[in-house]
Amino acid sequence: MTLLKIENLKVYYPVRGGFFRRVIDHVKAVDDISFELQPGETYGLVGESGCGKTTTGRTIIGLNRPTAGKITFNDVELTKITRRDFYKYRKDIQMIFQDPYSSLNPRKRVIDIIAEPIRNFERLSPKEERMKIMEVLEKVGLSPESIYKYPHEFSGGQRQRIGIARALTLNPKLIIADEPVSALDVSVQAQVLNFMKDIQKEFNLTYLFISHDLGIIRHMCDRIGIMYRGRLVEEGTKEEIFENPQHIYTKRLLSSIPQMNPEERLKHMAFRKEVNQEFKNNYDKYFDAEGKIFDLKPISETHSVALP
Ligand SMILES: Nc1ncnc2c1ncn2[C@@H]1O[C@H](COP(=O)(O)OP(=O)(O)O)[C@@H](O)[C@H]1O
Ligand SMILES: [Mg+2]
Repeated sequence: MTLLKIENLKVYYPVRGGFFRRVIDHVKAVDDISFELQPGETYGLVGESGCGKTTTGRTIIGLNRPTAGKITFNDVELTKITRRDFYKYRKDIQMIFQDPYSSLNPRKRVIDIIAEPIRNFERLSPKEERMKIMEVLEKVGLSPESIYKYPHEFSGGQRQRIGIARALTLNPKLIIADEPVSALDVSVQAQVLNFMKDIQKEFNLTYLFISHDLGIIRHMCDRIGIMYRGRLVEEGTKEEIFENPQHIYTKRLLSSIPQMNPEERLKHMAFRKEVNQEFKNNYDKYFDAEGKIFDLKPISETHSVALP
């Protein structure tokens, strides 16, 4: 059974201007994308800054309104139900934000930060609440004394664990992780990522994992959607995307990963040159007359590419 189904989602932001601040144009942040998440998998959304990844995540969780399209979660069409009903399902979808420095309220103690979703969605006695919080803190590897501390008393990696603990308290089914480690030092990134993998099994979580970093996407994801200018240009399993990329934009992204290994570096430089040449010569093949990205077309059971 499909856990999350996105169909023809569009999210446009109005652009206002002139003396009367009238809507004069729209930013097509997300422009007709469709994809599905199966239970237990990690689906990666990757693309350069501004391509619409965060808007997609925020819309699924109800922080942005879709301009058009359908979002179905667990067979319930979220885009059709009332706000009050939405609330019921909202509990099963949690988000981990990019910046653990700004996403945790600096004036609140850890206990109140983590308890927030519980207080919003469940009626627990103070004692039950404390038990629950201690339990998730232990799961994320923070000591019980942590509950009375403030966010500034923790390192970046620990803060992101607090954010993860908060997301876990309601036993969600889906976690949307928006660049969850990009504000962290490289040395703690791997720790947090591996920790996310561990709890995925334990809590039976499905991840929508958003990142601009293909290295991280490769480490985390089973399937990948490549986003470019509000559209999906390619979708496939990790192997298909990394071993057999088809769209010129996917190839460009892959060719821009820095290569550490000196022996590979020359080969990689050649690949980058070749991709740039192809981009110049065959640009028209990948975009229509108005420069628009084509719809995705399947080239195998799991692999789709935006080609005419
Ligand atoms: N609140 C907003 N109002 C207007 N435009 C926005 C808003 N948020 C994002 N955008 C624009 O929408 C596009 C997609 O942004 P975003 O979803 O944040 O991309 P990403 O997360 O991939 O970097 C960008 O062009 C961005 O400038
Ligand atoms: Mg973003």
